[in-house]
Amino acid sequence: MDAGLLGTGHYVPEKVLTNKDLENMVDTNDEWIRTRTGIEERRIASDDVDSSDMAFFAAQNALEQADVKAEDIDLILVATVTPDTPFPSVSCMIQDRLGAKKAAAMDISAACSGFMYGLITAKQFIDTNAYKHILVVGVEKLSKITDWSDRNTCVLFGDGAGAAVVGPVSDGKGILSFELGADGAGGKELYQDKDDHLQMNGREVFKFAVRQMPESSVNVIEKLGCNKEDVDYLIPHQANIRIMEAARERLGISQEKMATSIKKYGNNSSASIPIALSEAVRDGKIKDNDLVVMVGFGGGLTWGAVALRWGK
Ligand code: UT7
Repeated sequence: MDAGLLGTGHYVPEKVLTNKDLENMVDTNDEWIRTRTGIEERRIASDDVDSSDMAFFAAQNALEQADVKAEDIDLILVATVTPDTPFPSVSCMIQDRLGAKKAAAMDISAACSGFMYGLITAKQFIDTNAYKHILVVGVEKLSKITDWSDRNTCVLFGDGAGAAVVGPVSDGKGILSFELGADGAGGKELYQDKDDHLQMNGREVFKFAVRQMPESSVNVIEKLGCNKEDVDYLIPHQANIRIMEAARERLGISQEKMATSIKKYGNNSSASIPIALSEAVRDGKIKDNDLVVMVGFGGGLTWGAVALRWGK
């Protein structure tokens, strides 16, 4: 049996921060943000909502969609670079809150590629028959590490969580190929500084991303022996519409076949792919037997991609 997605869910905070709002905070404008990034607005969590709260809501939603009980989860993997505290982990916090008593739990730190690292780790446990139900969550409260006086970064990010329940599905479905990678030499391009603020060399990360995302997308398809045109839906990390377009164009698929939640939510780091996935499933954009590619890149530097055949 291959590992597939039994259910997905997400949560985004209610508070909307628009590009116009940002014009009153830093020297920027709506037109610059839209044309350079594709972002129109983003969500910001209130002070009393932390990553574990958002992870919990998204996880509950995914378990409902999967029709899996919390007590039947074997492992919880939470990808985040903005945990409530370094320890206990967010995964342990939600294990308790969900009542997932038999689940092992750990957090994964791979920045914006975190959900891909989580999904591919989960696949190994399912493929080897060690576990049956694994909850994978991507969650970020990036607003707490954003330097709100730095226009180079503060316009880009937003808060939220996305989740998926991974389990065995019938032959020919599920995650059929994957790729993971890292280049620690690029760590200096995107990091958290001593004041706990996110720092980024946007141009360097951009160059890395426009090369890596298209390449990884094609690699997972070629590993399957499929053609690029066979891809029914692409869910790239929602970092910048121009980077996402590079991946879409390399696959040669039409615009309707790519998730673009970046418009509403900005860059949610590890949560961006599972939020976009959950919305696509909810909106009926992904159908049984569709070939779906998910691809992410981020700080580390890290990257990861999967090709999966949708369905149970
Ligand atoms: O998920 C984490 C991974 N992160 C990313 O994927 C981000 C990758 N990088 C990017 O998406 C882009 O590099 C940015 C959106 C961050 C920047 O876009 P860019 O087209 O690379 O712009 P730039 O950095 O080359 O800056 C162009 C100009 C600069 O002014 P000068 O030096 O030409 O006078 C910036 O100071 O735009 C200026 N600028 C802004 N102007 C208005 C930078 N930020 C802003 C802003 N509003 N918010």
